[in-house]
Amino acid sequence: MKIKSFSFLTFVLFTFSVFNTGCNSDSLNHNLAPTPPMGWNSWNKFNCGISDQLIHQIADAMVTTGMKDAGYQYVTLDDCWQLPTRENGHLVANPETFPNGIKPLANYLHSKGLKLGIYSCRGRFTCEKKAGSYDYENTDAQDFAAWGVDYVKYDNCNPALFSSQQEDYKRMRECLNNCGRPIVFSICAWGFQDWMPSIGDLWRTTGDITDKWQRMVELVDTNEQYISYSSPSHWNDPDMLEIGNGGMTDVEYRSQFNLWSIMAAPLIAGNDLRAMSPATLETLTNKEVIAVDQDPLGQQGRVESSGKDLLIYAKSLSNPHQKAVVLFNRTASGCPMSVHWKAIGLAEGKANVRDLWQHKDLGEFSNEYKVMVLPHGSTMLVITGETL
Ligand code: GLA
Repeated sequence: MKIKSFSFLTFVLFTFSVFNTGCNSDSLNHNLAPTPPMGWNSWNKFNCGISDQLIHQIADAMVTTGMKDAGYQYVTLDDCWQLPTRENGHLVANPETFPNGIKPLANYLHSKGLKLGIYSCRGRFTCEKKAGSYDYENTDAQDFAAWGVDYVKYDNCNPALFSSQQEDYKRMRECLNNCGRPIVFSICAWGFQDWMPSIGDLWRTTGDITDKWQRMVELVDTNEQYISYSSPSHWNDPDMLEIGNGGMTDVEYRSQFNLWSIMAAPLIAGNDLRAMSPATLETLTNKEVIAVDQDPLGQQGRVESSGKDLLIYAKSLSNPHQKAVVLFNRTASGCPMSVHWKAIGLAEGKANVRDLWQHKDLGEFSNEYKVMVLPHGSTMLVITGETL
């Protein structure tokens, strides 16, 4: 009798673990994004108004505008690509907006040298009430792999009763690890938890961005709190870029780009790439700023000195003699700002200053560099000097 109940219990536990995870992986490998991911996502501009045709046009624009050459790679379908209900247990693309399904779209992106990202959710339903992945993690991971998906953004809406957030994300990570295709895992749970770096390649540290100056600045401050968790292949994500969406000035958008880059944040454009102003394109494709974001040392820059609303951010680069610096003026008037070598980990004496927006070396300066910074603006530099 004892033996019988033991084996029954073993059977129950075994069955539970198989059906609950569907994917038995011990290794949560996540070295798929050694530098912060770069790409485009449909949500900020288009919300639920996405279609196969739109995504094709965005992919084409990504190439023709030079965004791809600048490093943008992932094209991600956010919420609403899918139907509210499954068919035969599988997620299905909305046949009205994605009549060919997802696989041909992935093929098209791959043929352009781009990659496909897709959105799902740990709950039974997504935030927009489409079918979510709860209980179907393995099926969905296998389908994503079969379609050619390269990146999954996994949201936090409508969790199942009594489910654990950590377990839900871990299960999907394991299923993605076992799906036979390398797939970047982007955790979108609107705030940091300390288990996230062991499960995600990137994780949202904040709630949603809006296309407003004040909100953008709030996200920068929140993201700053989690610097110690960021490292190569593990990225704090303060949400996507709003550059080009119209709610901020070009100066403010340039500040978003400088700040995201000095923070080694994922650079996920969220605008209509088919209709960019020259200023928007110039901002999004500044290769010198992008090089700071993508520097292989992978350090998240930090505030090294701050007066009231005048902040100096610095980021060590893989060249030990170089520091990237952002002088950020949050006030509504132009302000003189200065960066002192000592404050950013360089020795006193002469150092070379390069302006990443003028694209020129400004020359050698002693001990500090002073500059006027526009209201809500920022100056971005690389300073080369002697290390302390
Ligand atoms: C949440 C996410 C957003 C977006 C929407 C889609 O709010 O944080 O980034 O994916 O859901 O419904």
